[in-house]
Amino acid sequence: MKYGEVLKGRDVEGKEKHVPIIEVENADNGKNIVKVTVGKEVPHPNTVEHHICWIQLYGVKKDNNQVVELGRTDFGPTFTDPITTFKISLDGIKTLIALEYCNIHGVWEDSLNI
Ligand SMILES: [Fe+2]
Repeated sequence: MKYGEVLKGRDVEGKEKHVPIIEVENADNGKNIVKVTVGKEVPHPNTVEHHICWIQLYGVKKDNNQVVELGRTDFGPTFTDPITTFKISLDGIKTLIALEYCNIHGVWEDSLNI
């Protein structure tokens, strides 16, 4: 089995929202603020037994499709909501890909072409 086979996305989203929502805002010095949220519309449970453990953000370069890691945030269950922001230079990046891991429901993905 390959990693891609266990990734889940919008097509299998249930009532508990897992798909990481990617939003991009302009910032200073030509950079951008990239915000990734899990459970933006319907909050995901945040208990020791059931929570979002981490969010990872990757970029795909325009010129050669190289994948670059842009950041990762780990969350402490019950204390920290699964929201994270990164200040990034998006020059040369054509697509953002976010992954998140729920300790019950697995790894979820979404992407945003920019
Ligand atoms: Fe979950």
